[in-house]
Amino acid sequence: MEHSFISIKKFVEEPYSKILGYPNATSRQIKSRINELEELNIKSISLRGPTTLGKLAILGKGYVGVVVVAKKNNKEIALKIRRTDSQRKEMKNEAVLLKIVNSVNVGPKIFDVSKNFLVMEYLEGEKFSDWMDSLKGSGSAKKLKHTIRNILEDCYRLDQIGFDHGEISNISKHIIVGENKATLIDFESSSTQRKPSNVTSITQAFFIGSGIAKKAQKIYKNASKEQIINVLKIYKQEKTRENFEKLLKVLKL
Ligand SMILES: Nc1ncnc2c1ncn2[C@@H]1O[C@H](COP(=O)(O)OP(=O)(O)O)[C@@H](O)[C@H]1O
Ligand SMILES: [Mg+2]
Repeated sequence: MEHSFISIKKFVEEPYSKILGYPNATSRQIKSRINELEELNIKSISLRGPTTLGKLAILGKGYVGVVVVAKKNNKEIALKIRRTDSQRKEMKNEAVLLKIVNSVNVGPKIFDVSKNFLVMEYLEGEKFSDWMDSLKGSGSAKKLKHTIRNILEDCYRLDQIGFDHGEISNISKHIIVGENKATLIDFESSSTQRKPSNVTSITQAFFIGSGIAKKAQKIYKNASKEQIINVLKIYKQEKTRENFEKLLKVLKL
């Protein structure tokens, strides 16, 4: 299906202006943001996605940004728009962090950044929790294992470069599962200063915490929590490939 795109010129007015300046902005701020978009070569926005802002469909909303599909040089991209009430004064820092994770093939590809906008790869798919809830029938275990393995490998590469995602335990929100790949998103709270605990945090969320672990256990029977915790301890002491493989083995991945 062809999606319809709305010219950014229309975003000076309600209801569209709410998207560019959420939760509230003056018309001067909105106009300045439209200029900023023009400089980024973004001329239109497509209102679609699983969430809504007022009555408009969008990709998502967090405490920092509102995310929509937009077009840049005829290509669909995801545009993260800084909320006017965000703690962050600009989007640059998140762009720097995204570049670091992109260097080990993690996260959506970053294309451009300005004070109030982040231009990145548009990930088609579902949030992990929705995706997992819709898994059924034969092949479910294989699909789930494949996705978890994919994400654990990403986390391992982040651990290796000393990068901590920070909000990984909130996996239901921070993994988008598409046709061919699953991708970690939202590196806004990440750090290169903290000790990285990506693999440990995500393993806990997948297999030890309550919500997702319980559902996963129904799809395929896993090792005991004690066994998982033991092998995690070994990995935590020495984050080697060998210890990571031991973990994968216990997790039957
Ligand atoms: N690259 C993307 N492609 C598709 N959807 C995205 C993308 N980035 C973010 N989203 C959606 O937007 C939501 C909010 O983005 P997020 O980066 O988590 O913002 P915040 O930093 O404000 O929490 C996400 O939960 C996700 O559903
Ligand atoms: Mg978020």
